[in-house]
Amino acid sequence: MKNSEHTVLSRYAVIGHPVEHSLSPVIHKLFADQSGEKMSYELIDAAPAHFEEAVEHFKATGGQGLNITVPHKESAFRLSDETGPEGARAGAVNTLSFLPDGRVRGDNTDGIGIIRDLTINHNHSLAGIRILILGAGGATRGILGPLLDALPNELVIANRTIDHAHKLVKHISDDKNALPHACSFEELKGMDPFDLLINATSAGLKGEILPFPTGCAGPKSFCYDLAYSSKETPFLAWARQCSAEKTSSGWGMLVEQAAESFLIWKGFRPETGPALENTPASA
Ligand SMILES: NC(=O)c1ccc[n+]([C@@H]2O[C@H](COP(=O)([O-])OP(=O)(O)OC[C@H]3O[C@@H](n4cnc5c(N)ncnc54)[C@H](OP(=O)(O)O)[C@@H]3O)[C@@H](O)[C@H]2O)c1
Repeated sequence: MKNSEHTVLSRYAVIGHPVEHSLSPVIHKLFADQSGEKMSYELIDAAPAHFEEAVEHFKATGGQGLNITVPHKESAFRLSDETGPEGARAGAVNTLSFLPDGRVRGDNTDGIGIIRDLTINHNHSLAGIRILILGAGGATRGILGPLLDALPNELVIANRTIDHAHKLVKHISDDKNALPHACSFEELKGMDPFDLLINATSAGLKGEILPFPTGCAGPKSFCYDLAYSSKETPFLAWARQCSAEKTSSGWGMLVEQAAESFLIWKGFRPETGPALENTPASA
């Protein structure tokens, strides 16, 4: 569907705290060019105390939808009047749509984003493998259910604050799939190297030494960092030191989750190839 010159400018944004590092505007511009949409896509920095007010203001001033990033995904879930199945399952949403009747719909596209990146872009099969997720924050909430649906043989969630990992396991306990196992980073010592390690922590980003035992990744491991950067991330440097077979940043996930948000808002799923090639180093 290509729109014509009659297209009205539509307003979208990503809201987070901090948010200035986000490359979502670059990705959505590529998508809008493909669909012929005249779309503005802004960055909104809102501290947690001002999140609801900022959403309300954007909606009242003609905004049509928002992407939600750290630390607002659970707050966005709570303010949604209706929620898509993945958002309800995660208890967190990364996409808000302002419906014509004034209600707010929340969706979570992080899960489908990472599944598409791993299984399509990286051609990596998830069934029957051993997966370790490092971290138990908002991103893990979004990806946990879809990863369990892919039927891994084992799924371990290790976190600095073990209660947060236990809470997530409890949250997913009504799920039809086998429960994941929660543990501390210390308890990973002595476990065999995992097939797939997903870093969903912010560890290392302030220059601190990563607290992960080196034995949990090995020469057959795929180490995937949700973070992305124009430089090698601390986790991917750690993976290289563990001789991991394969590594990837979360750029592909960011692009794929954005394409799903665009589909929800516009009914058009853009080709992700051009954005995937437009890596942070070249963006
Ligand atoms: N590529 C993408 O599309 C995409 C999508 C979503 C998120 N992300 C990235 O994923 C990362 C996590 O996001 P999030 O939304 O889950 O954040 P979050 O809700 O703030 O969770 C942060 C996680 O990191 C852990 N952590 C923070 N500092 C740590 C440290 N120094 N040592 C060990 N663990 C530490 C926290 O542990 P505690 O529980 O102990 O506090 C928690 O598990 C961020 O880098 C974000 O940018 C990328």
